[in-house]
Amino acid sequence: MRLAKHLAHAGVASRRASERLVFDGRVEVDDEVVTDPARDVSGRERIRVDGKTLRAHERGADRVVYLLHKPPGVVSTAKDTHGRKTVVEFVRSPGTRLYPVGRLDADTTGLILLTDDGDLAHRLTHPSFEVPKVYVAEVAHGPVREPALRRLREGVSLEDGMTSPAKVRQLRQGLLELTIHEGRKRQVKRMCAEVGHPVKALQRVAYGPLRLGDLAQGGVRRLSPAEVERLRSAGAEPGGATGRDGRRA
Ligand code: URA
Repeated sequence: MRLAKHLAHAGVASRRASERLVFDGRVEVDDEVVTDPARDVSGRERIRVDGKTLRAHERGADRVVYLLHKPPGVVSTAKDTHGRKTVVEFVRSPGTRLYPVGRLDADTTGLILLTDDGDLAHRLTHPSFEVPKVYVAEVAHGPVREPALRRLREGVSLEDGMTSPAKVRQLRQGLLELTIHEGRKRQVKRMCAEVGHPVKALQRVAYGPLRLGDLAQGGVRRLSPAEVERLRSAGAEPGGATGRDGRRA
């Protein structure tokens, strides 16, 4: 595999930023500075970036990421004190300790990721990485008029501060698609309630480059290496490898 791609896989930086790291002479392969990002590596070499060795677990090759279509009534913590079913229980992965990537409310359905890669989970949920999340919300008192849509787009004042600009469109009367980059508690519900349209049902349909697609509720699939790589790139650079509108920059 190309050296720059290998670094991106390891979560060091996006593919382009990894190429720059190599060009700039900051990467050593088996104690030799390599400035060719296309240099072929097998993954068995000792690779250092700025003198720091990539730890084996950062290589990511043996890490797993699952995508679950979360049903309602399921909690997205690893354990629940009230005995409710958790998202982790949907994945059969013996010997692997899985963590949910972020949270969905118990009554929210849709796309949630589970992984044993703590570093990836952190990158994807930290607000500075601005990974876009797309929700479809059925709201009360539709249709949602232009002033309310504009407030949602420009930012809504919540008790924990203004929300960042969001992309919002009305798919049909009372059905909104919202793309947000933050992950505050109950954010979509609070935003919609604040503009006079409480949420009746909420589903997450996309997370960074991944879409829920037609996976049935309760269905799980393991992400392919290419999908994991795209996900790593989305969480590799503060400011996001995807644009504010959710498209790749
Ligand atoms: N926003 C919410 O209000 N709830 C969720 O579960 C996710 C985003």
